[in-house]
Amino acid sequence: MTKQAQPGHSIAQLKVFSPAKINLYLRILGKRPDGYHELETVMLLLQFGDEITLQLSTTGLTLECDHPDLPTDDSNIALRAAKLLAEHSGVDHGARIILRKRTPLAAGLGGGSSNAAAVLTGLNRLWNLNVSGEELHGLAARLGSDVNFFLGQGAALCHGRGERIEPVACNFVGTILLVNPGFGISTKWAYEHWAQTAAESRLTGKFPEVSLLLRALAEGDLAGVTQCLFNSLEVPSIRKFPVLGLIKKTMCEDGAAGALMSGSGATVFGLFANKGDAEQSARRIREQFGPSMWTASTRFAEVPSRSGKAHRIAR
Ligand code: C5P
Repeated sequence: MTKQAQPGHSIAQLKVFSPAKINLYLRILGKRPDGYHELETVMLLLQFGDEITLQLSTTGLTLECDHPDLPTDDSNIALRAAKLLAEHSGVDHGARIILRKRTPLAAGLGGGSSNAAAVLTGLNRLWNLNVSGEELHGLAARLGSDVNFFLGQGAALCHGRGERIEPVACNFVGTILLVNPGFGISTKWAYEHWAQTAAESRLTGKFPEVSLLLRALAEGDLAGVTQCLFNSLEVPSIRKFPVLGLIKKTMCEDGAAGALMSGSGATVFGLFANKGDAEQSARRIREQFGPSMWTASTRFAEVPSRSGKAHRIAR
């Protein structure tokens, strides 16, 4: 967001961009006593994402969404984020949260986590709360493992459950083709099945060095980035859903330098030097695998473009 609230004025409406992410690297280091998994992951914000409109309201906190399958009650992390911020700040302000959902659900693209982060930062501004960045990070970590990343600036190396973020340099300029097969994978399911696969095949032993990936990202070296793509959750998911492996193979045949499943899936992404090849591959995948295939071609977002028009009203 670009504009700050002026003293004596409050904002009536705010539009916030809620970007998706991909994981170029997701290595599970082990299972923790609290049931979560200790991670080392590298994530990139994308230019593709959802749009959220926040409006001041006198009738409490409500969420509306144009996607029929997404619940708009307290089970939605975006509404929980709004309630947590209000509770933390000791205010009973209302807001209408209008979510235009473009990111597929349960897709490994961080859709819900990104919405939560956008609601935290957007309502902080709409309600003129001045909650500090550090406090917002504390709230984000309570909402979900990926929410902190979406409070950040572009590319990050993340540890812990994923909530400890360290910004990293990224000069990656290629085209990123996202392909979702039309079904979701539950994050919980993916992590549970990693344990079985890891025990069977000692998956934990083979992985590229994350430092090499960070260097390649900083240098904008597509071949170097491609060599370091890694996701501990990919093998169990491809084993259960072989179409994911076939999509990866098709993208590579169509000119992708590399392809990987993002996060807990089921979205697979391909990294292309050439935008035309990415778009051609998307067309071929939709033809070959059928109309359930969802595709989007996007790029790394160097700066989160969460800015939007803020309409002010005098107090
Ligand atoms: O934190 P979040 O709600 O996004 O996580 C969803 C589920 O994914 C958790 O309940 C847990 O089963 C699994 N998870 C995990 N280790 C992580 C992140 C998520 O086991 N680091």
